[in-house]
Amino acid sequence: MMAASLTSTARETYPPLVDIDIRQKRYGERPILDSLRLTLAPGEIVALLGPSGCGKSTLLRIAAGLDRDYAGTVSYNGEVQRGPSPLAGVIFQEPRLLPWLRVGDNVCFPQRARGDVLARAQSLLEEVGLRPEDGALWPKHLSGGMAQRVAIARGLFTQPQLLLLDEPFSAVDAMTRMRLQDLLLAIVDAHRTAALVVTHDIDEALHLADRIVLLEPAGGARTRPASRIFEVGGPRPRRREDTARSAWRRILFEGLETLVR
Ligand SMILES: Nc1ncnc2c1ncn2[C@@H]1O[C@H](COP(=O)(O)OP(=O)(O)OP(=O)(O)O)[C@@H](O)[C@H]1O
Ligand SMILES: [Mg+2]
Repeated sequence: MMAASLTSTARETYPPLVDIDIRQKRYGERPILDSLRLTLAPGEIVALLGPSGCGKSTLLRIAAGLDRDYAGTVSYNGEVQRGPSPLAGVIFQEPRLLPWLRVGDNVCFPQRARGDVLARAQSLLEEVGLRPEDGALWPKHLSGGMAQRVAIARGLFTQPQLLLLDEPFSAVDAMTRMRLQDLLLAIVDAHRTAALVVTHDIDEALHLADRIVLLEPAGGARTRPASRIFEVGGPRPRRREDTARSAWRRILFEGLETLVR
């Protein structure tokens, strides 16, 4: 049920789709991540939980190739990445749409939504539950949930093999959040992308993930490994009333509580 380090599982192919191997990440003298190994296979969803400031966003930036100032490697399909990976699509907590571009142009930025590109942007808008004609709207005319759907469409535009999502649904209301969670599951199913999702919400992690990683702050007088991995597994879709009663829920709450104490 629990492993000492984040190694690959039997489900995974070799080489894995992505292999994140961080010996150490520091900001100045301060260690943020150490001895962390995490692999993902196509179609696999891993949720990343941990107290504020433990390095979840840092890990995502490293996985995306946006931060190269660390000791270790990130490989996609066995190839070590030396810069931003074209195989990763990043989705942040807030949509970060460019206000001076219409929705369609935001989806395919830096390209302009014309011809084939427009058709692809429109079909992605449909896939995330919007209408193709919504591509003509300005970002300021969107609700928070619509804007995040556009951000997801933009994250998919480059046909990434791995989606990196940093608290992607925490800025929307509870109903929208459930819909967006199910949208993510549909996308992972349809495209067989892998997804690494940072969340503060244990129920969200239990609804989405094959594995849940509990990340402990680096440094200090730590006696346990830096991270614990919970193989929640089980078929999807899952019923939220079942995950609410799952034994994992209590284990994860207790694990998180120990870390924030
Ligand atoms: N550019 C930076 N320079 C120096 N320290 C940084 C920088 N970015 C982040 N940090 C520090 O590194 C630590 C990890 O930051 P990170 O954003 O990865 O945490 P997090 O787990 O995502 O937190 P949260 O749950 O609040 O989003 C924090 O203590 C943060 O203050
Ligand atoms: Mg963060």
